Amino acid sequence: MLVLGVESSCDETSVSIVRDGKEVLSNAIHSQIDIHKKFGGVVPEVASRNHVYQVSMIFEEALQEAKVKPEEIDLVAVTMGPGLIGSLLVGLNAAKAFALLYKKPILGVHHLAGHIYANAIEHDMKFPAVSLLVSGGNTELIYMKDHFDFEVIGETLDDAVGEAYDKVARVIGLPYPGGPHVDRFAHEGEDTYALPRVYLEEGSYNFSFSGLKSAVINLVHNKEQRGESVDPKNLCASFQAAVTEVLVSKTLRLAKEKNVKQIIVAGGVSANKGLKERFTKDNTDFEICIPSIKYCTDNAAMIAVAGYYQYQKFKKCDDLSLNAYASLDLEELYEI
Ligand code: KG4
Repeated sequence: MLVLGVESSCDETSVSIVRDGKEVLSNAIHSQIDIHKKFGGVVPEVASRNHVYQVSMIFEEALQEAKVKPEEIDLVAVTMGPGLIGSLLVGLNAAKAFALLYKKPILGVHHLAGHIYANAIEHDMKFPAVSLLVSGGNTELIYMKDHFDFEVIGETLDDAVGEAYDKVARVIGLPYPGGPHVDRFAHEGEDTYALPRVYLEEGSYNFSFSGLKSAVINLVHNKEQRGESVDPKNLCASFQAAVTEVLVSKTLRLAKEKNVKQIIVAGGVSANKGLKERFTKDNTDFEICIPSIKYCTDNAAMIAVAGYYQYQKFKKCDDLSLNAYASLDLEELYEI
């Protein structure tokens, strides 16, 4: 089965063709990072405009690279939310135009399901599983009894972990998006600053990163006021140690409680080397799946793969009235 995936929820325009939920024939991506860098974050209007400029060329590129004719596609899978509404609508309408023109079935996919299913490209997913979803907009612990059976057990009460990474990067003058730069600095520094580990109340699976983020900002400002400076590499190492300790310990505790067969790490922050190292160090009992870096951040291959499994499970498609949603509840969308 050949699935054409389309992703445009934030600042990446991507189209991919995947065979049988596994073999990635193409994964064309246009990233707008260089455009948004000068604003220190994604500007929604600018993002949707650039999706419009890119989307037809990215369709062409994906089909050419895969050496596939549009007529050969079996299913079109497209991100329907959550994300920036103007951006989502560009990908959705391009996917609908393709489906209408070539008379193909279309399926709306939840962006976070896409991140989780990025793991199915290089691993065989085993259930029950616990997924740690860490991105620029989300931090969630999800229990999965089976394919497309999502139960959100914990989530952030304030900032997403990627957002905290980006803010910390900004306060020490690193470029946007800050996550990869903080990760790199963390590996060149040492955990020397005492920063809080926020576990919340006993037994909680929720997260909170705003206190940690404020602690970093206050530390930098206090030092500045005294005419001193922080060591940015040690600060990044200390911040990363505080983040990964909490993420990994809560994930392992839930995995034990649910007696799972696999831990699935997903989302942009799953590219973090410190997170991988912490899992390797602290885990002895579970198989940990983390996608290759190219499948960690937003891409359409993950949407094509999720679309494949979604179709296998529910055996139904959407029609051309399919809409996009800035907020979209994962559990509700796939409720049986
Ligand atoms: O999943 P993603 O591409 O976009 C969504 O939020 O959907 O995630 C982007 C986030 C950004 O906040 C970026 O700074 C972060 O992932 N990120 C990282 C790393 N690579 C990307 N954070 C920490 N370490 C990294 N190596």
